[in-house]
Amino acid sequence: MSKPLNVLFVTSEVEPFIKTGGLADVSASLPQTIKELGHEIRIAAPRYGSISERKFKIHDVIRLKEIGVPVGERVKMANVNSSFIANTKAKVQVYFIANKEFFGRHGIYVSPETKKDYADNDERFIFFSRSVLETLKRLGWKPDVIHCNDWQTGLIPAYVKTIYSNDPFYKNIKTVFTIHNLAYQGIFPASSFKKTGLPDSVFTPDGLEFYEKMNFMKAGLVYSDVITTVSEKYAEEIRTSAEYGCGLEGVIQKRRQHLHGIVNGIDYEIWNPQTDTVIPVRYDVHTIEGKVENKKALLKKFNLEFKEHIPVIGMISRLVDQKGLDLIEEISDEMLKTDVKFVLLGAGEKQYQDFFESLHKKHPSKVGVYFGYSEEIAHLIEAGSDMYLMPSKYEPCGLNQLYSLKYGTVPIVRATGGLEDTIVDADSAASGTGFKFKKYDAKELLKAIHRALKLYHDHGTWKKIMQNGMVQDFSWEASAKQYASLYRTLVK
Ligand code: ADP
Ligand code: GLC
Repeated sequence: MSKPLNVLFVTSEVEPFIKTGGLADVSASLPQTIKELGHEIRIAAPRYGSISERKFKIHDVIRLKEIGVPVGERVKMANVNSSFIANTKAKVQVYFIANKEFFGRHGIYVSPETKKDYADNDERFIFFSRSVLETLKRLGWKPDVIHCNDWQTGLIPAYVKTIYSNDPFYKNIKTVFTIHNLAYQGIFPASSFKKTGLPDSVFTPDGLEFYEKMNFMKAGLVYSDVITTVSEKYAEEIRTSAEYGCGLEGVIQKRRQHLHGIVNGIDYEIWNPQTDTVIPVRYDVHTIEGKVENKKALLKKFNLEFKEHIPVIGMISRLVDQKGLDLIEEISDEMLKTDVKFVLLGAGEKQYQDFFESLHKKHPSKVGVYFGYSEEIAHLIEAGSDMYLMPSKYEPCGLNQLYSLKYGTVPIVRATGGLEDTIVDADSAASGTGFKFKKYDAKELLKAIHRALKLYHDHGTWKKIMQNGMVQDFSWEASAKQYASLYRTLVK
């Protein structure tokens, strides 16, 4: 076998420490699988105030104390803390970049008090990006590849290609930039650019300037050696359509030769009804009957009456525009005319929370809602629901439809991004695993739900659809191998 590679995986979220969405799941399970393949991979993330030192046994790295990091005219101090993530096969070191001023608060990107993005998010992630690079040199550990994720890490490729490129330590380090969500770009006023310390020559439309502002995501897209995103379909959507490209479609189209769609996997050590320790009754494809006990527990949790043959539609979601919640709003009364229950676990924007709250009040015997964040309820919804709703406006990959497949919970999805790539429509193929609709239109969604409800009462067919889903293999191995061979092509 060829020589193992050294990889640093840089992310703003990682399970089980800190999570707002799927990026955190990916940031834990992908590095673990890369490690299983025999490479040395470590993770760098910010040390947010809400990460418990006690729970995760986080400790200082003594020789990585008081690293001076320039942010604009000032020098801010970074300390590096360390911890591990481990599954049964691999253990990966995590470096946390600590600075009380920037990260010693409770929110991650958004202030819990004002519900607005922190005003200094530019400085926070400039500081984080430079700290990561400074840390490597102090450590004396030179990665072959730095794998960056989303806008928060977009400046790293720009730094490596400019102000750090004269230093022999950083020379030859390659960068991979993964887009998990192109709609969040990290756009700041031109004045933020001054704080980066990057040369003025990069503040142009060919560089990281975006209509006279600075754009962190664009920096990652322009300066990385390779760009990836989390499904093939999304890779196509973001370079061919303004709707999905969010203004960066031209930049991506230009770099299409360096763009790869690699679908996310999921961690079956955490998301597997056969071994899940959170749910009341474990089951697998041969003991699907076990699912009904979980349905009972789920309905109890949401104070809804259990009737075995009334289908439960579940949903776990960030409550944001991306997730197609306006479509649900449009058809909710119509959907609830049929004999069905709906349960939602979600956190996010107030307008959506208000809507689901009012829906629950209007249909208290049919609709259950839980606002907030709960791993436990998320597992219970996957195990106890019959169907899973994901009518996203766009979906780079999506993980919950993959969890749903494994739990025999049949996904109803919009055919976009990773949802298109991972779900096969049951009305058009015997190997079908779910129900898909194409056009972003509430009536189309309703039709898909009605198709699902109809087949639900055809027990034989329904069981077959569940089984088709449960035997799918979306483990990380195949995708991790694709990342590893991409890294390899960069490090010749
Ligand atoms: P996105 O990253 O766009 O939110 P994904 O489907 O990739 O979408 O991943 C979402 C992840 O976040 C899943 O692991 C899902 O279970 C989890 N999640 C979302 N909202 C909640 C919540 N309120 N409570 C618990 N888990 C949640
Ligand atoms: C983003 C996307 C989601 C994807 C996740 C992990 O949050 O919205 O579709 O699954 O990142 O890549």
